[in-house]
Amino acid sequence: MLKIKKHIAEKLYANFAAVAPATGELTADDFASFLEYPPDDNFGDLAFPCFKLSKAMRMAPPMIAAKLAEGLEDDVIAKVDVVGGYLNIFISASYLAGVLMPEIMEKGEAYGSFDFGKGKNVVLDYSSPNVAKPFHIGHLGTTVIGHSLKMLHEFCGYNCIGVNHLGDWGTQFGKLIVAYRKWGSREQIEDVGIDELVALYVKFHEEAEKDEALNDAARAEFTKLEQHDEENTALWKWFIEISLKEYSRTYKQLGIEFDSYNGESFYSDKMPAVVKELKDKNLMTIDDGASIINLEAYNMPPCLILKRDGSTLYPTRDIAAALYRKKTYDFDKNIYVTSAGQSLHFAQWFKVVELMGYDWSDKLIHVPYGTVSINGSKLATRTGNVILLKDLFAESIEKVSAIMEEKNAALENKAEVAEAVGVGAIIFHYLMNSRIKDINFILEDALNFDGNTGPYAQYTYARTCSIIEKAGGVPTITPDASMVTAHSEAALLKTLSIFPEKVLAALDELEPSVITRYILDVCTAFNRFYHECQIVTADNMTTRDFRVALTSCVRSVLGKAFELICMKKTEKI
Ligand code: ARG
Repeated sequence: MLKIKKHIAEKLYANFAAVAPATGELTADDFASFLEYPPDDNFGDLAFPCFKLSKAMRMAPPMIAAKLAEGLEDDVIAKVDVVGGYLNIFISASYLAGVLMPEIMEKGEAYGSFDFGKGKNVVLDYSSPNVAKPFHIGHLGTTVIGHSLKMLHEFCGYNCIGVNHLGDWGTQFGKLIVAYRKWGSREQIEDVGIDELVALYVKFHEEAEKDEALNDAARAEFTKLEQHDEENTALWKWFIEISLKEYSRTYKQLGIEFDSYNGESFYSDKMPAVVKELKDKNLMTIDDGASIINLEAYNMPPCLILKRDGSTLYPTRDIAAALYRKKTYDFDKNIYVTSAGQSLHFAQWFKVVELMGYDWSDKLIHVPYGTVSINGSKLATRTGNVILLKDLFAESIEKVSAIMEEKNAALENKAEVAEAVGVGAIIFHYLMNSRIKDINFILEDALNFDGNTGPYAQYTYARTCSIIEKAGGVPTITPDASMVTAHSEAALLKTLSIFPEKVLAALDELEPSVITRYILDVCTAFNRFYHECQIVTADNMTTRDFRVALTSCVRSVLGKAFELICMKKTEKI
């Protein structure tokens, strides 16, 4: 609708400028932004609220409406109704079938893309789990929101660098080394993987409650690690390797790859320069032995740079990483996706970068999201324990397998499909809410094949594939207005026309839920068309070909939209 909006806005603006005593500050672009989607298509496909011009035109809205409506109808605008202070505008079938549809057919999955990001780099820091600590459902948000934002930026032409800023440095490694030497076994860790590391870490904390000396021992081991002690370095590398093996399984299920795994340890040798720079720029003060940056003037608690023992902290490492990324990638945006609990941390060190005099500090963007709790799953009974993402995925996949066994036992590659649908269900359900909202996740709801869910969307996608297969492929046709014979066909085309706008909105608001909800709109419009119209079985060949081609447009848009929210698609369910 972007092009149509622009077209309508220009015509409305010309009418306005011809009669308004003064145009004031208003432009044709403002007119485009005033256009609304009416709740019901009896009120047109787009509506223009004329009261917005009352001041500039010094007329009552119905009068304005009458003036603006003059000579509006053309190839694109089929009809304009003046209703009260509104102009209700109807888009022509000749535009929908003759212009929009050929565009979608030609572009396929590139329909809806933009190129304004060309030549610009965007760094996205997401997922970033802490090594040897559980990868739990709290990480679902950063992982799927982060990846979705990456896909959206790429779709708009940006060159994206996905960074998994692993939490792979800090005193926890001293603890793990002590725990491993005291209670661990190499075989057990090789066998069980990360869960065994987590268990050792937990045991360390239990024991340290009773024996304070363990903490000293852990600090000493970490110091040795910092000094590149050979044995400790080998252990540390191994812990990371074990953890990554596990993460990569989850990333594979999600279809995610990172361009860099430079985590916190990567910056350990880059910290002294940052500390020196902060000192040289007179930003640091000493408080009770620790080095801090006072942010009182900005209504924030101080940003901690060095502990009393001189060791660096989380913000120090983030500042070092930002400087490094600027130098390495010269980013246009550097995006961090984390829980809202870290908002203060980011606000603080973003301010520090600004105080350091870097004019690019406004290119640092924090994207926060709300908390997730889980209900209605056997996992939830483990209260007190964290729920691991892999367990949630496994339970979902298992349930989908059972449903599929009932519905379509003959399906080939069942395991693969069950994984795509099971994992997709979780992603979809999660990304349906605006990211900042806290959500209570109910697995049964996410898996409802008849509800507004991932499985429903995937089922719809599979339906488009099977129609095209039955039809023997996508016919080559040149669609025109005469082929649009059912209301649901036009309605479906209008829904497809909104895709580019949704892409822009999602990118602007850094909000994947815009796409998720749009997927549901497309599914609803398509399924209405499917139930109302005969497609492959239509008597008239022209009608049949037109409808199959329309189905292929839906397949392209859904396929791309799935990719944008990192949900896999399956041609058969
Ligand atoms: N490892 C951190 C955590 O799990 C998230 C890191 C986010 N990225 C960053 N550059 N601080 O909470």
